[in-house]
Amino acid sequence: MSKRNRILVMTGLLVIAIQLVPVRRDNPPVTAEIQTPDEIGSLLRGSCYDCHSNLTEWPWYSRVAPASWLVVKDVRKGRSELNFTEWGDYTDRRRDHKLEELEEKVSEGEMPLKIYLPLHPEARLTDAERQVLVDWARAERAAMGPIPEAGE
Ligand code: HEC
Repeated sequence: MSKRNRILVMTGLLVIAIQLVPVRRDNPPVTAEIQTPDEIGSLLRGSCYDCHSNLTEWPWYSRVAPASWLVVKDVRKGRSELNFTEWGDYTDRRRDHKLEELEEKVSEGEMPLKIYLPLHPEARLTDAERQVLVDWARAERAAMGPIPEAGE
């Protein structure tokens, strides 16, 4: 076999081999989904749920290594930081903190994650939509009232 062909065969075998690395693409049951006005719910579902809920729509490339590793990593990290379908189980303190983070990340354009947008152009938020989300988060926090300090 020529050197070139050997390299091709090795590359092919490597591509096949990495497909065998197990990845967990699960959607755990939805037990405590956040309750919001319809407009907010559709923004969250359209732009955030793939990483921040148990209702992830796994794209085809999430089945092909190495892209799958990146997708699964973002979903795991995203869910563990903020899960809108486990929101009902959060404490008031945690909700308050997450809403504050949401105001910050959404107004600064850090969420949805940039890497996600080229393949999900419909998830991109307009300035007006960002404002709607931020205003909602602010109003939610205000409605919760003061949160007791830790230990109180
Ligand atoms: C492609 C996956 C993905 C999408 C889509 C996405 N996020 Fe995230 N999000 C992450 C990841 C990963 C983290 C944790 C790492 C980080 O902060 O960058 C995160 C972190 C956050 C945090 C910080 C939580 C904390 O306590 O620090 C907030 C708030 C957040 N996202 C809100 C949103 C909102 C709101 C949307 C939709 C408008 C959204 N995200 C869309 C992946 C995503």
